Amino acid sequence: MELKNDLLLRAAKGDKTERTPVWVMRQAGRILKEYRDVRSKLSGFIELVQTPEKAAEVTIQPVDILGVDAAIIFSDILVVPEAMGLPYTMEEGKGPFFPKTVKNENDLNKLRIADEDSLGYVIEAIKVTKKELNGRVPLIGFAGAPWTIFCYMVEGKGSKTFSLARKILYHNPSFAHKLMEKITTSTISYLKNQIAAGANIVQVFDSWAGILPGEQYDNFSLKYISKIADAITEVPVIVFAKGAYASRKSIGKINCDVVGLDWNMDIKESRALVGPDKTLQGNLDPAVLYADFETIKAETRKMIDQFGKFRHIANLGHGVYPDMKAEKVKCFIDEVKDYSSR
Ligand code: CP3
Repeated sequence: MELKNDLLLRAAKGDKTERTPVWVMRQAGRILKEYRDVRSKLSGFIELVQTPEKAAEVTIQPVDILGVDAAIIFSDILVVPEAMGLPYTMEEGKGPFFPKTVKNENDLNKLRIADEDSLGYVIEAIKVTKKELNGRVPLIGFAGAPWTIFCYMVEGKGSKTFSLARKILYHNPSFAHKLMEKITTSTISYLKNQIAAGANIVQVFDSWAGILPGEQYDNFSLKYISKIADAITEVPVIVFAKGAYASRKSIGKINCDVVGLDWNMDIKESRALVGPDKTLQGNLDPAVLYADFETIKAETRKMIDQFGKFRHIANLGHGVYPDMKAEKVKCFIDEVKDYSSR
């Protein structure tokens, strides 16, 4: 189907656009009252993710309410470990919890490769969303990077340090690589299924990139992200590796189209490290959205000026925070659209 607004896809491929496209990480859920209304009628987050019609509804909410240039399918990066054999729970205010983790070779060997059957509900949600979007904006598919998924699979929950995951990289690197391989195979197949169902572009989230030193990051994380980027030839690939300062140059060399920057990454320095051939995405400090409207507009204009109007997708430097006001998020989106089209 012909897209009515394909700004994001054209910017990702490096084509000139009339203005800078904009979307916001974690735009679906978190901040919208309309999202909480839908979720409150169900048993919780997991039921919402597993009910394609409802997942499609909350995927489209930010397109209608905030006016973003892309929808991102409502799901979670943790559906992959679940499909591999580790069920999770999501407690309000507490985050994810995996009762079973991967502790040894035996656990590792028991893991499945995530297949279309086990993640059929996401694929179905994409099909329903595409139909309901009716070509208004592109749909972003996504998955966690193998390193970030590895962190949850071995630790079972969030952590400030993920020290257990990092310990394994020193104590048992071959075990780490074996698990990373299995996650990578699952992720490639999952992303390809998302694309076949209609995802127009995919983003790989490496939320815990920043806790590894550069060399270890390249060996244990970027290596696998690079395999994923090599395998996905159908649509553009966005890599968002939060905190991967030391690896920006190596990220610039992999087969992705877009590199996401967090808000501490200097824009000019990142452009020089990544090189001219990739689109950059980001990177307003999410906390700016706690400021007054005038400050939000001024900071947004500053960001647009620094990136320039070419090869940039506007976004925050990480996801929007749950206590942020939708009007403030909309102010950011409107200012990107207005200022970049002048
Ligand atoms: O971008 C979107 O809005 C699409 C949906 C989406 C969710 N999670 C929904 C969600 C996406 C892209 C994610 C990615 C995700 N999930 C990441 C990578 C991005 C990042 O922020 O770094 C990570 C690390 C997770 C793991 C996860 N899921 C955590 C730690 C939590 C609890 C805290 C929180 O709110 O993020 C979740 C739950 C989750 N995933 C919620 C939503 C809307 C909140 C559940 C609820 O209260 O409804």
